[in-house]
Amino acid sequence: MLSMKNTLTLLGNLSVNEFLRDYWQKKPLLIRGAVPHFNGLLSPQQLIELACTEDAQARLVTQLRGQFDLQYSPFAAQDFKHFGKAQWSVLVQGVNHHLPEAAELLKHFDFIPHARLDDLMVSYAPPGGGVGPHFDSYDVFLLQGMGHRRWQISTQADRTLIEGAPLRILKNFKIEQEWVLAPGDMLYLPPHCAHNGIAEDECMTYSIGFRTPAYQELAEQFLVYLQDRICVDGMYADPDLKTQAHPSEISAAMLRQVGQAVKQVRWDKEDIANFLGCYLSEPKPHIYFDAPEPALSLKKFEKSIKNKGLALNLKTQMLCHANSIFMNGEATLNASHDYEVLRNLADQRELPALTSCSNELLEVLYQWYLDGYLSPV
Ligand code: SIN
Ligand code: CO
Repeated sequence: MLSMKNTLTLLGNLSVNEFLRDYWQKKPLLIRGAVPHFNGLLSPQQLIELACTEDAQARLVTQLRGQFDLQYSPFAAQDFKHFGKAQWSVLVQGVNHHLPEAAELLKHFDFIPHARLDDLMVSYAPPGGGVGPHFDSYDVFLLQGMGHRRWQISTQADRTLIEGAPLRILKNFKIEQEWVLAPGDMLYLPPHCAHNGIAEDECMTYSIGFRTPAYQELAEQFLVYLQDRICVDGMYADPDLKTQAHPSEISAAMLRQVGQAVKQVRWDKEDIANFLGCYLSEPKPHIYFDAPEPALSLKKFEKSIKNKGLALNLKTQMLCHANSIFMNGEATLNASHDYEVLRNLADQRELPALTSCSNELLEVLYQWYLDGYLSPV
């Protein structure tokens, strides 16, 4: 299904370094035959079935006489039956959380750090379907699966959206370039590059998206992180209180004192790293992990991982930095040499048979197993 041993074809004749230097976050790149013989990982019917499952995050976009409409999952099979004259498209987020082949596909994009990865979204549209001209705050690789899609793009600065539309549609989309992508072709778009994809025939597109969090979001979330950790001594005191002409007025002395107190709120590089690791590995709100049922005993778990190794749950997000492991939003400090083993697990999403395993490592892995974050192979 996927014949891709290295990133050479994935980026055409560019090396990863050339791609990063000349295109990443800078300008669009079309790569014909990026994934030779790629015809997709699932059929339209399987995608619709996935869109109808309880924990899938899916959207259904319909378009009739230029008017767009948008519905969110959960869907039922009959939602995909009666479109009449309307064009339509279904888009399912996080397909890599459901399909091992999708998670494998993402591994080919490992030249971009996992901390930047969002997910794999897959769309299906019959001829004419699409979501309209728009821009995303994402880096995205649009890999064509089944069928053909006409991509029109523009680097225009005008980002005015049609007011009142249920989805973000550009008001004045001025096409600068267009191509028809066939199975295995791929288009890289940096954030804010306007694009419009129209299905030429029955068409499925695989979007490998990389998030670019807004500073506002990062700062707000950092403050949320900090609020549970700050430690500020002392309490307001005014033993030298003087009378004031207007009792309703907040005095300069009071402001000064509170200003000094607030300045005690401090953070360091470790706080930033800890925040970022937890924030970026935090599962999206609709994601839940099921505890194994029945769970293996610690002894059986140990035997199993020593014989066959282990793999992360498809929904798990695991990052690391300087002896800290961030597992689905929780930090674990591991100053021992086990850190390297855990970093390999985070890099590869699996570990081969663990011939030797310290008690400390075994305990951590077993707890993650009980949480449903990983399992023996
Ligand atoms: C699609 O697959 O139809 C939309 C992908 C995108 O425009 O980001
Ligand atoms: Co888009």
